[in-house]
Amino acid sequence: MQYIDLRSDTVTKPTPEMREAMAEAEVGDDVYGDDPTVNRLQELASEMMGKEAALFVPSGTMGNLLALLVHCQRGDEVIVGNQSHIYLNEAGGMSALGGIQACPISNQSDGTLALEDILAYIRTVDVHHPITRLVCLENTQNICGGVPLKPVYTRQVAELAHQNGLLLHIDGARIFNSAVAQNISVKDLVGPADSVMFCLSKGLVAPVGSMLVGTHKFIARARHIRKMLGGGMRQVGVIAAAGIISLEKMVNRLEEDHLRARKLANGLRQVKGLAVDKDSPYTNMVYLNLADDLTLNSKQVSEKMRELGVLVDAENARRFRLVTHYWIDDVAVERTVSAFEEALN
Ligand SMILES: Cc1ncc(COP(=O)(O)O)c(C=O)c1O
Repeated sequence: MQYIDLRSDTVTKPTPEMREAMAEAEVGDDVYGDDPTVNRLQELASEMMGKEAALFVPSGTMGNLLALLVHCQRGDEVIVGNQSHIYLNEAGGMSALGGIQACPISNQSDGTLALEDILAYIRTVDVHHPITRLVCLENTQNICGGVPLKPVYTRQVAELAHQNGLLLHIDGARIFNSAVAQNISVKDLVGPADSVMFCLSKGLVAPVGSMLVGTHKFIARARHIRKMLGGGMRQVGVIAAAGIISLEKMVNRLEEDHLRARKLANGLRQVKGLAVDKDSPYTNMVYLNLADDLTLNSKQVSEKMRELGVLVDAENARRFRLVTHYWIDDVAVERTVSAFEEALN
């Protein structure tokens, strides 16, 4: 069966154009810095993000981990959202591999960390305290609804961090969704940050890979630690070739995914038994709950949906997140709404 897969934008398979570029990619040993396709991807990424340098990494998780390991020493503390991917879903890498301690503070419903909370949790200099070194923001903030953080807010956080001797890292797994949704340049969103990770393998459709950007010095150190972690990838131009197409051709079309997410949400609002979050979607993620009076739980509903040819991921016993992407067209949106109707009624 050909499934409609709304579990995540990570499920996107490469386009025929990407597969062709991958087959024909000019390659070299990237550990020597000799892969021309990787070098081109890194130049393109640093230029688009307005940063000095970029590094191709196998995953967003590794990109975030490298940033943490470069910015922090063992025993340092990092202020992160308690709903952030870095805190919840990266297998505790910062503490296991870096000896870094997370200081989780509440994400507000709009995905932000309150400035007063950040300030309150910066440690004072005291022999008893860890040193607060870094603040991490997530843009778009996934669990809060795929919500885009605004450039003015990011600037305020960066100013606060820098005034207090801290650095700012952005987990921008979906930073282009944020920029497109706000109709602004991605440079405006990440300008004040010291480092940014963003993913090619999500809404930008590449099969593998993420980018880490920052200063030359930061990227040189990240390259060293990437090697230490076993992430030196040799003739990796084979996959970087798809990433170049992501950056050149897949950014502007993200608006289509946002439009379809809105259509999907509007359709699902008509389905008895579902309660779509009030302001959802902000970008390509639709969040919804099963209505209180529905006896089915989300596992049972997702099993029924699978039988009807639609894959959806349950967030918990009552909640779903549906993600639109390149391979979800208007027909898929309509079929999803009808499948929910059939599964619930
Ligand atoms: C917000 C966010 N950051 C980081 C990541 C990690 O990316 P990867 O799955 O490539 O490790 C994800 C993955 O879904 C994510 O949603």
